[in-house]
Amino acid sequence: MKVLVTGGAGFIGSHTCVLLLEAGHQVTVIDNFCNSSRDVLDRVKQLAGRDLTVVEGDIRNPADLDRALEGVADAVVHFAALKAVGESCEQPLMYFDNNIGGTIALMQAMERHGVQRLVFSSSATVYGDAKQVPVAEDAPLQATNPYGQTKLVMEQLIRDWTASKAELSAVLLRYFNPVGAHPSGLIGEAPRGEPNNLMPYVAQVAKGQREFLRVFGDDYPTPDGTGVRDYLHVMDLARAHLKALEYSVEHQGCEVFNLGTGRGYSVLEMVTSFETASGKSIPYRILPRRAGDVAEMTANTAKANAVLGWETELGLSEMCADTWRWQQSIRY
Ligand code: NAD
Ligand code: WQD
Repeated sequence: MKVLVTGGAGFIGSHTCVLLLEAGHQVTVIDNFCNSSRDVLDRVKQLAGRDLTVVEGDIRNPADLDRALEGVADAVVHFAALKAVGESCEQPLMYFDNNIGGTIALMQAMERHGVQRLVFSSSATVYGDAKQVPVAEDAPLQATNPYGQTKLVMEQLIRDWTASKAELSAVLLRYFNPVGAHPSGLIGEAPRGEPNNLMPYVAQVAKGQREFLRVFGDDYPTPDGTGVRDYLHVMDLARAHLKALEYSVEHQGCEVFNLGTGRGYSVLEMVTSFETASGKSIPYRILPRRAGDVAEMTANTAKANAVLGWETELGLSEMCADTWRWQQSIRY
């Protein structure tokens, strides 16, 4: 297939591009590099041993999208978004504009170019503080911050758009907590400044770049009192996008899938596992709970398993070992 990947230089997009190229697809990436760098795409090409087309541009700009969609006939995988929860509380309009505005512009461009298939990066954040875990796709939805609100709105806009024409197909993928890196150590997550997420923070502490991990709360109703999440390896997640593309060829309308392992790990279990993978000790201090955090969030993945034929293959030890290999190779 000819596939346009928005945000293809980012963490999840870059890993997905490698697998798309390896599977023989023709790939064009549109990225404005606001949270990534162009040389990631050179490493993607190197890993896959194939070329891809790069359009430096913004998905909110119709002319950039027209350039990117020239000759791209089959599908769009849409990663491009801003994703920092805290920043979204400080600058909600920037998030509405980039994420929602960008997605509207993208759907309009797809209509102009007759592209009928869309795979969209959604998030477990749309479940808010779920009453019951593991959470299934039909659980109540709730935004607890502006970033989550953009995901909810984008899901709804895509759903309404696909309902307007019988030939359209959209697959909404709700990722839980993606971590890990390509096993080569050539690409991975490279947060700018202080990481918001647990795994990159832990990796920086192990490398000695930060003194200690701040554990946000040890008084949750979980086995060790720290927050429990459903971490999944980015290579497993990337593979799910290929399954979603296959699914979109066979099906019209809009479907939503949870992507996780179905198993939760606490913050302290993550620390222990990373210590084993890295051979380094990871000092931590217990701090108060972080505003907006929930005790436990895990995925019911039965639908993705049955309908997409997708299951995770990599466990916590690979998630930590691959993150560590990548972290050691980053020079900053
Ligand atoms: P990332 O920031 O590494 O990648 C996003 C990419 O999109 C970056 O390369 C950035 O430069 C680009 N981008 C952003 N706005 C753009 C615009 N207007 N025009 C063109 N390019 C633009 O993020 P990621 O972790 O790879 O996340 C990818 C997607 O998955 C996002 O939609 C995110 O909300 C979603 N998601 C991520 C997580 C996670 O924990 N990483 C969890 C759930 C969902
Ligand atoms: C995991 C656990 C923290 C950092 C976020 C977004 C969500 C999605 C994935 C995009 C929690 C604890 C963390 C630290 C800590 N992104 N923690 N010290 O909060 O589950 O989800 O990323 O869609 O929308 O909200 O992930 O990695 O930030 O936190 O103790 O320095 O680690 O309290 O229990 P989260 P996370």
